[in-house]
Amino acid sequence: MTRPDTTSGNADQIENRAGLRRIGVLTSGGDAPGMNAAVRAVVRTASYYGVGVVGIRRGFNGLHDGEMELLGPRDVANIIQRGGTRLLTARSRAWRTPEGRAQGAEHLRRWEVDGLVVIGGDGSFHGAHLLAQEHGFRVMGVPGTIDNDLYGTDYTIGYHTAVETALDAVDKLRDTGASHERIFVIEVMGRHAGHIAVEVALAGGAEEVLVPERPRDLAEVAEAVRQSQERGKTSSIVIVAEGFPGGAEGVARAITEGTGEETRATILGHIQRGGSPVAHDRVLASVLGQAAVEALLMGRSGEMVGEVAHQLNFVPFEDTWNHKKDVARAKYRSAKLLSC
Ligand code: F6P
Repeated sequence: MTRPDTTSGNADQIENRAGLRRIGVLTSGGDAPGMNAAVRAVVRTASYYGVGVVGIRRGFNGLHDGEMELLGPRDVANIIQRGGTRLLTARSRAWRTPEGRAQGAEHLRRWEVDGLVVIGGDGSFHGAHLLAQEHGFRVMGVPGTIDNDLYGTDYTIGYHTAVETALDAVDKLRDTGASHERIFVIEVMGRHAGHIAVEVALAGGAEEVLVPERPRDLAEVAEAVRQSQERGKTSSIVIVAEGFPGGAEGVARAITEGTGEETRATILGHIQRGGSPVAHDRVLASVLGQAAVEALLMGRSGEMVGEVAHQLNFVPFEDTWNHKKDVARAKYRSAKLLSC
C-alpha cells in the first residue's frame, strides 16, 4: 500500500543518512520522453548533496557488462528538452539470471555505488527488486513509460507526450477520413493497458474506443458505427489500444463486415515514443528524479516514487505489478457519451 511522503519539503531537513558514496542511474525498457529530464534531476540532486553519480548505459544490460561513466551536472546540460534517453536503454536477457545480476552487483561495488535509481516500467522494477533482494543495494524506481500502466502514480513520465503525438496523428487522419467519408480505425500503444487510447479518444472526438480493460463484442461495435452513420455521421474514428484482441486490423475487418463501408486501419506504432517531452513530462520527471535521490539519502529503498493528487507517493516495487491501475472510468464514459 502507499506510504506517507517523508522526503518532500525542506531540503535543509534532508541529510545523507544512508552514508551513500555514489548513486547509480539507469534507464530501462521502452524509452519515454522525459527520461532525460529524470536523469538530469538525479545527477543534479545528488550533486547538490555532495554525492557522486555513475551513469549506467543500456539499462540492466550495461550494468551486467559494466558500461558505466561518472556524471556531473554539466554532463546532463541541454538534455531536458530531448526525447529518447541519453543513457540508452534495453530489455535485458542477462538480468533474468541470478549469475547475470551477481555480475552487475559486482560492477556496482567496484564503482563504489551504494544506491541506484532505476527509471522505467514494471519490468524494470522487477529487475530493481531482485537486485535489492539478492545483493542488498538500496534501489528506488522512477516511473518512466508511455503506457501509464503503473499503480501508485497518477501519471508516468512520457505518457502525456505520447498522447499529444498520437492525437496529432488522429487529427490528421480525421482530415482525410472526413474528405473520403471513410471509417478510420487507429491503433495506439499501451501494451496491455488502454490509458493512451482513452485519453486520445476523448481528446480526438472519436466515435468508439476499444481497450483491453473493457471487452466488447465487435459485431456490436460495427452496429454502433452503422447507427452513428444513420444519425448523419459521414466518417468515423475508432481508437483501438494495441492490447485489444485483434488490434486495429481485426477491428477494421469486423466493421467492414458489419457496415459494408470502406474502412482503413492505421497503426501508429513507435512514433508515439519519440519527440521532445511536453512540459508535464519534464516537470514530473524533474520532481520524481529529485525525490528518488532524496529518498535514497534518507535510507529508503525497494520503492517506486510516483505522484498522486500532486503529492509524492511511495509504493513498494511489488505493488506496481501486483495491483492493476484501471483506465479512468469517467473519461472512458465521456468518450462514449460525447460521441453521439
Ligand atoms: O512499454 C512501452 C511500449 O512502447 C508499449 O506501449 C509497447 O507495447 C512496447 O513498448 C513495444 O516494445 P518494443 O519497442 O520492444 O517493441
